Amino acid sequence: MDRVEELKREAGITACSFVRDGMRIGLGTGSTVKYTVIEIGRMISEEGIDVIGVPTSEATRELAESLGIPLSTLEEAAPLDITIDGADEFDPNFQLIKGGGGALTREKRVAEKSAAMVVVADDRKQVNTLGEFHLPLEVRKDDWYTVAAKLREICPGQVSIRGGESPYVTDNEGYILDCDFGPTISDPSLLEGHIKSIDGVVEVGLFVGMCDAVVMASNSGVTTLLKQGGRLD
Ligand code: A5P
Repeated sequence: MDRVEELKREAGITACSFVRDGMRIGLGTGSTVKYTVIEIGRMISEEGIDVIGVPTSEATRELAESLGIPLSTLEEAAPLDITIDGADEFDPNFQLIKGGGGALTREKRVAEKSAAMVVVADDRKQVNTLGEFHLPLEVRKDDWYTVAAKLREICPGQVSIRGGESPYVTDNEGYILDCDFGPTISDPSLLEGHIKSIDGVVEVGLFVGMCDAVVMASNSGVTTLLKQGGRLD
């Protein structure tokens, strides 16, 4: 396992300190939170904890099922006690870019219905200002071209459809536009509102006011950053 993978694993496992017997847990998507899901599976089989997971993607559902984690839907299980998920970037105000794995819409629906959200990440994801990582948007298939044209009016860099000529299709049968804003997103809430007002946009990969803690792994160890005044403070 290379060092980055080790850091992801450390962050993913450490975040399970937030897991309690009886919880309903939103299970995020990605290569870091995968380790959280595996650890929850271990806690069920070895420690006998009793939890219910709500997966944010088909990939996570398959992984959780293979580990014997009891699953439910958001509709049946909400409100959830906690969601644990990865992020592509987080800023000092615990604002996030997510959607590198294309699951942003379900990830946001699940996080919105959770009493708290914990992000697992390595320190490469920590930024001062969001936007170095391309901002993903989920768009309706039929509208992607017009949405991309509108985005080009406000995005200083490239706007591209993920997958190019063979577009990536989300679990909701949508497409993803990746928008290269550069590290300029100082008011993510404002930008999110602006983009969501464009017809054809399903969801924006900006998560504002949702994340309460970041479990961050770096070469000097794992640090849990708690948002002051957040729901886990
Ligand atoms: C999935 O759609 C994303 O939001 C992921 O949570 C995010 O891209 C982080 O993934 P990694 O842990 O694989 O970097």
